[in-house]
Amino acid sequence: MKKQVYIYKSFERFWHWTQAFLIFFLGFTGFEIHGSFTFFGYQNAVEYHNIAAYAFIILIAFAIFWHFSTGEWKQYVPTLTNIKAQINFYLIGIFRDAPHPTKKTVLSKLNPLQRLVYAGLKLLVIPVMVISGLLYMFYRYPQAGGVVGLDINSVEPIALFHTAGAFALVAFVIVHLYLITTGHKPTTNLKAMITGYEDLEEEESEKGSEIKEVAGAEAAADISETETPALPAKNLD
Ligand code: HEM
Repeated sequence: MKKQVYIYKSFERFWHWTQAFLIFFLGFTGFEIHGSFTFFGYQNAVEYHNIAAYAFIILIAFAIFWHFSTGEWKQYVPTLTNIKAQINFYLIGIFRDAPHPTKKTVLSKLNPLQRLVYAGLKLLVIPVMVISGLLYMFYRYPQAGGVVGLDINSVEPIALFHTAGAFALVAFVIVHLYLITTGHKPTTNLKAMITGYEDLEEEESEKGSEIKEVAGAEAAADISETETPALPAKNLD
């Protein structure tokens, strides 16, 4: 039986939407600086990009504090359990009405692929953007001491890392926007991140334990090896 469960706390939703806006705005102004198009004008784009970058750093500081003080960081510890089933689900099962191979619970809201991708964003892509962005600032503006101290004497590697990270974020956003629509209904996941509430299986939401395998997960894992898999038609998300 399904039950409305409060899955995304208010700070989490505030952080998610503010981060989404800032990444979008930083991407927009960043690619104007890059020369991809003209909208604000180069000087304004640089100024807005810098302001948004400082806001992003402040938000990251609060988010780090929140993740550790609530223990929510554990949600992002990568796991290989069920990962094959999850990949096969996104590649094949989803188009054949197969069940979601992992169940969402309050203590385990992310499927194994989300854990991997979000951990990669938090530990790799975002740090690369912040560090290369700050180096960019210090390189270009009078306070060059820190960069000289690091023996960086060309802006090229900095620009390369920063732009590569920006492309990675654009790719992430495109995939993320598509995956938002793959819940029980196309708007289920979006509504959950707006209201905080989502319909989850009662039994599982109360247990709130590790990622649960559901009937059909194995079938989903082996789906690539079978011609026409006989999978249950119910989407459990
Ligand atoms: C705290 C985070 C960030 C800081 C401190 C930062 C800082 C900077 C700075 C100083 C520049 C050079 C501006 C100039 O030429 O005067 C720049 C360029 C740029 N930024 Fe950021 N940025 C950050 C985050 C981001 C994010 C999240 C994105 C993408 C979503 C992004 C995309 C870009 C792009 C595409 C450029 C142009 C790079 C080039 O053509 O060399 N930045 N950034």
